[in-house]
Amino acid sequence: MNIVTIGRGSIGGGLAALWRKAGHDVTELGRDGGDATQADVILIAVPGSQISDALGRVTGVEGKVAIDATNIMPVRQGDFPSYAHEVQAFTHAPVAKSFNMNFGSLFEKVAEQRVRPSNWYVADDGAVAVTEQLIRNAGYDPVRVGNLSQARDFENAVWLLMGVQPVGGVFYRFAVPGEL
Ligand SMILES: NC(=O)c1ccc[n+]([C@@H]2O[C@H](COP(=O)([O-])OP(=O)(O)OC[C@H]3O[C@@H](n4cnc5c(N)ncnc54)[C@H](OP(=O)(O)O)[C@@H]3O)[C@@H](O)[C@H]2O)c1
Repeated sequence: MNIVTIGRGSIGGGLAALWRKAGHDVTELGRDGGDATQADVILIAVPGSQISDALGRVTGVEGKVAIDATNIMPVRQGDFPSYAHEVQAFTHAPVAKSFNMNFGSLFEKVAEQRVRPSNWYVADDGAVAVTEQLIRNAGYDPVRVGNLSQARDFENAVWLLMGVQPVGGVFYRFAVPGEL
């Protein structure tokens, strides 16, 4: 898959490394922007307050399936129903909200775990297949917890992970009986 990450920090750069290991062709863009025309999917991994600014500097995003990993820390900005909807205002295509509920600081440790950690996500139906593949390729198990209409509530739920110890981050797992 050809992937363009908009943001190349902990999340954008961390996922780029994992996805390259899985065989994908990944281009990382920073605040200078760039072009996403060749992308099969784009990842948005910039500060939540910078989504429109960042997408405004990238050409070729129209029609691209997007995975939005932004979160509302320290406080939500703007008037869109959710940050994922702000992304969709640029792409006009299916969007998933994923990796916003996972710690970038732990990406390098995912592969060492006894069982795959979960990755909760919400998505438009048209973004499910590619999102699940890229979640698996990053070493997590995808758990769809809703549709994109629930993105705002999902974004607001980040406090669930912010309050846990250790502050360096945790994995979590949803499992069906018999899996644990
Ligand atoms: N860190 C985590 O564990 C974690 C977990 C879940 C979700 N998130 C969310 O994921 C997003 C990225 O977090 P991060 O930890 O990866 O941040 P980070 O390490 O600080 O990286 C931020 C990236 O955003 C880019 N950027 C900043 N302003 C920009 C702009 N106006 N236009 C384009 N690009 C811009 C930076 O570009 P340059 O490279 O040019 O500086 C950098 O590549 C945030 O919304 C964060 O809340 C983070």
